[in-house]
Amino acid sequence: MNIAINNISILEAQAVIVPVFAESEEVSLGYVSDIYQYIRSREQFKCEQGEVFTTVKFGEVLPQDIIFVGLGKEEEINGEKIRIALAKAVKKARELKAEKVYVDFINTESLCYGATVKAMVEGLKYGDYKFDWYKTDRKEQAELNIGFGNVIEEKYKETEDYIKEGEAVAEAALLARDLVNEPANVIYPETLAEEVLEHGKKYGFEVEVLDELQIEDLEMDAFLSVAQGSDKAPRVIIMRYFGDIENKSEILGLVGKGLTYDSGGYSIKPTDGMVTMKSDMGGAAAVIGAMSAIAQRKLKINVVAVVAACENMISGGAYKPGDIIGSMSGKTIEVLNTDAEGRLTLADAVFYIVEKEKASKVIDVATLTGAALVALGTTTTAVVTNNDEFYNELETASRKAGEKVWQLPAFDEYKKMLKSDIADLKNLGGRFAGTITAGLFIGEFVLERPWLHLDIAGTAWTDAERDYYSKGGTGAGVRTLYYLAKRASRK
Ligand code: BES
Ligand code: ZN
Ligand code: ZN
Repeated sequence: MNIAINNISILEAQAVIVPVFAESEEVSLGYVSDIYQYIRSREQFKCEQGEVFTTVKFGEVLPQDIIFVGLGKEEEINGEKIRIALAKAVKKARELKAEKVYVDFINTESLCYGATVKAMVEGLKYGDYKFDWYKTDRKEQAELNIGFGNVIEEKYKETEDYIKEGEAVAEAALLARDLVNEPANVIYPETLAEEVLEHGKKYGFEVEVLDELQIEDLEMDAFLSVAQGSDKAPRVIIMRYFGDIENKSEILGLVGKGLTYDSGGYSIKPTDGMVTMKSDMGGAAAVIGAMSAIAQRKLKINVVAVVAACENMISGGAYKPGDIIGSMSGKTIEVLNTDAEGRLTLADAVFYIVEKEKASKVIDVATLTGAALVALGTTTTAVVTNNDEFYNELETASRKAGEKVWQLPAFDEYKKMLKSDIADLKNLGGRFAGTITAGLFIGEFVLERPWLHLDIAGTAWTDAERDYYSKGGTGAGVRTLYYLAKRASRK
């Protein structure tokens, strides 16, 4: 998709997208005004948020399809509503086989200008996303050419930059969706590492990949215990971006859960729970996506990201319920359930990022517990933290991003649930408060650094098309991490 200002005239456009607020008595695009008045007066179109009304082209009288899309009330507008509306409109344009699309720009005082532009760009890009390249009858689609019309002339330059930023963020979120949607026979630790190497080259961050021997040298026993049941060798993928070299003591550490497949191991999952477990690297996808956007936008900040990638499988060599394993930190862990594997891999990854990469703050992102889905559903990411100030930064960023987060309590009583009788910790906190205890387990390995744990088990995947998400991976976390890094980079 190519998006620019004024590069498509109304005359050459095959479709025209006209976003309208509910109270608008007319539209700024004069030549469709009569049609608008007509469909409004007949109540064929009520301008409700996300509502689409299309007129069909009719020779010279109406030489293109007009796609009206409702934005709801102007005083209630926000980025999310714009993304949803534009995603629906662009889907319609595709359906109508348009390749050149004129988009009437949304000029409003009710939302900050940059947020408006970026949300428009994101909505268009998300709405046009499809994961269909395994379908052999798939038709190659032409690239969509989008032209923003009605942009105020004095604002051209800043609009262009906001378009670029919106594109970078959307591309990063769609990269994360792709990585999650790719099946586990295609994306496994080695191939994931290759993908990251490629994206590092493309966007400008350094990538180092550790193989099994190097991981053994680091004594990442907890991570290696999870990995040992699989024929696919594990990898530790390290991404480094130093945009603020004068400030080397401040390094934001991002850690993503990278289970390229989670069968549950000997605590095996039922088939229904297993089929979507290619998505258990959604946290890894989020940090890879965020890293791409951060580097592409050349933010003035230092960020290191780590993914400990492996598969959780069954074999004669797999780890078992009852095993006592070590960890890079030296702490011992009693394994009560091999399906609680994410926290084991993350324990070593977060310890590594603090100890070896000198991260001064840590955020881990993980599809960690089904309990997060039970507690908050599919729209909200659960957060556990040891630092409320850091959480506030995350919340601000999430609002900018249009993603939702909610903090869970982290009282000492919950930490006690992880004590083992025969080792330092156990990997299961019991039946209750599963999301909290899982998060706090990871928190035991961050060496008291300010830390946020994002459980995206509910938000990383959607079973049905919704808003601007297609079925499958959602790219959850990418935008929030990007805006958090961007805010931190201003200081
Ligand atoms: N990857 C799963 C969590 C998950 C479940 C993600 C559903 C997305 C959708 C994780 O490794 C897991 O299996 N967790 C267990 C933990 C339990 C054994 C304490 C769970 O949630 O059941
Ligand atoms: Zn599991
Ligand atoms: Zn898992």
